[in-house]
Order: sequence, then C-alpha cells, then structure tokens
Amino acid sequence: MRCEEIGGNIYFNGDCIAGAREYVPSNSVDLIITDPPYGINGDQLHKHYNRNEEFVVEGYVEVPASEYGEFSLNWIKEAERILKPGGSIYIVSGYTNLYHILHALRQTKLEEINHIIWKYNFGVYTSRKYVSSHYHILFYQKPGGERTFNLESRFGVKEKDSTDGSLNYQDREDVWIINREYKPGQVKNKNELPTELLIKMMQYSSNEGDLVCDLFLGGFSTAKVAVGLNRRATGFEISPSMFDTKIEEMRSIEPGFLLSTLRCPEIEELANQGKSWTTEDINTLVLRFNQLTESGKTKKETIELLEKELGRGRWSIEKMLKKLGIQFNGGKRGRPKKKPITNVLKDQTLLPSE
Ligand SMILES: C[S@@+](CC[C@H](N)C(=O)[O-])C[C@H]1O[C@@H](n2cnc3c(N)ncnc32)[C@H](O)[C@@H]1O
Repeated sequence: MRCEEIGGNIYFNGDCIAGAREYVPSNSVDLIITDPPYGINGDQLHKHYNRNEEFVVEGYVEVPASEYGEFSLNWIKEAERILKPGGSIYIVSGYTNLYHILHALRQTKLEEINHIIWKYNFGVYTSRKYVSSHYHILFYQKPGGERTFNLESRFGVKEKDSTDGSLNYQDREDVWIINREYKPGQVKNKNELPTELLIKMMQYSSNEGDLVCDLFLGGFSTAKVAVGLNRRATGFEISPSMFDTKIEEMRSIEPGFLLSTLRCPEIEELANQGKSWTTEDINTLVLRFNQLTESGKTKKETIELLEKELGRGRWSIEKMLKKLGIQFNGGKRGRPKKKPITNVLKDQTLLPSE
C-alpha cells in the first residue's frame, strides 16, 4: 500500500480495513475521529446538495448499500483493535445507515459515552417533508483504561454567560450547532467536516502528542486539525486522486498552527481540590450548611458559598453532603426544609476525596 510520511506522520492510500490490519499495531491510537462513506451513492450527493461542483475533488469512493452492514462491522472491529484501552472514538453518521453502525458497535466491546447530534446549516432541500440538517456523532470508548476528557479545555466550570448560564455546561450539551464551512474558490472534499467540530472533539478527548487516526481521511480535515493542535496524525484514504490532492496540502501544514486560535478558559484553582476530606473539613461543612440554609439561602447560593469557603468543587461538596445523608429538601427556589442537621460526625476519620 502506498504511504507518505510528513513530519513523522504516516498517511496511507488504500483500504483502511486491510491497511489497518497490516500497518497499525493493536492498542496504539489515542483517538479515532472518522466519517465513513454514507452508503447512499455518494457520487450523487451534489444533486441533493445543489453545490457548485467546480471546486470539489472527484474520487469519493462509495460503499454499496447492500454491503454497508458487513463493511461497517469490519472497519469498526479494526478501530476497536487499534485503539488504546481508554481511547475514544467519534463516528460521524447520517441517519440512513446509522442502524448498521450501531449494530456493528454492539458487536464490539466499545462502550457508548454519548450519542451527539450535530446540527449544521446545509440541509438537503425538500418541499414535501422536513429539511434534514443533522448528523449523528457516536462517541464511544475502548474499556480497560482511563479515558481522556479535558473538562475545562474550552470553558472553566465557573464561566458564565450574560444570563448566568454555565458556558462549560452549554459547551458539553450533546446537541452541537456548528455550521459547515463554505470555501469559495478552494478545492475541497464533498463532505469536509468543519474545523470547529474537529477542534472540539480533539480538545476534549486528546492531549498534545497523542496519536489521532481517521480511517476515512477524505479531505484530510482530521489530519490537518490534529497537526494544527500538535497531535500526531495518521489515517487512510482509498481514492488515489483525493489522496494525491490532499497530501500536497498536508506538506504545508505547520504543526501547532491552530493553538493560538484557541480560547483560553478561565480555570479557578481550588485550594483543596482532590484532597481527602478531614474530620475538621466535614465539621465545617455541616456547620456552615446548617447556618446558610437556616438563614434562608437557596441551594445554589449555599453550594457556591461552601465552594469558596472550603476550596472544593460543587460535585465534591454535593457528594459529601449525600454521603452524610444531608438532603437539601428545597421548596420554592430550592430553599431547604427547616430541620437543621446536627451530630452527623461522631466518629468520622479521614474520608476519601471525590
Ligand atoms: C465521508 S468521506 C470523509 C470526509 C472527511 N471526513 C473530510 O472531512 O473530508 C469518506 C471518505 O472515505 C473514503 N473511503 C471509502 N471507502 C474507503 C476505505 N475502504 N478505506 C479508506 N477510505 C475509504 C472515500 O473515498 C471518502 O473520501
């Protein structure tokens, strides 16, 4: 199989199933992001999408619908093998053949983490039914290791929008609204994934130096973003014409070129984050919880004050309150029931942290 090495990264021109079997060792890849062919006669896609074909690279290789189930199982089994334990995989799929991909995933040991809906701005034109403008992104992990999930890589957990909503929470909701890119006058693959979408997946699910693989490189968008974020990249593209065009573009990609475009999250360092709870900490927690709730503070207000006073995160505080059997039985606006909590801590020694 033909391959090209650029800056230490190897890209293969050939079938990903046979190629991965031969060239990619088991348990070697940190993250797979991939967008397999759709099995819906891809070479007709431009008719649905009504695009100007002048700048679209020819050579998209489609899989016959009748073979899609077997094809999906074969490549997904390879993906499972090459992922490191704890490694993540994101599979982008339309709705037509989604059931084949879900069925194949269920025949592996890969575990579902999220089923994300990606809403985009380039729906198929229709006049007698609803307009389709979403893709499915199946986020799974290989069991047996710790999964990378960089919680605050994009927004600190305390960052708020103008209406006091959590930016971190909003960014991690499982419906993503990300527009496709229009690249007027540039040569592109028919179905290129937006840079913003790829950056998001890589920021949460990988670190600099990690190996990111795309089994269906198409326009090499995954590889470009991976290199741009200082990850290592590899992958397969079966079409020689697509490979030839895109490999040339890869030669001019500067490692790390996207890093300066990333938003800098505001991350609050908590003094006691990750530390075990001492008896004294727990006594303070109970005492202050009683005082604050008795004074009529809402649950939200109480937890926020406790976070500051104890130097611990919200989850840790809520978990400890639960462990102590302390419930915040708020009525309207989360106000607690009146009953104070006393004597919870007779013989508490060190308790493990969150
Ligand atoms: C949906 S496109 C990928 C688009 C890509 N994510 C991008 O952003 O440009 C799927 C690609 O897989 C390629 N392909 C089809 N069968 C393949 C196979 N068995 N091995 C490797 N590539 C294949 C197609 O030629 C097509 O370029």
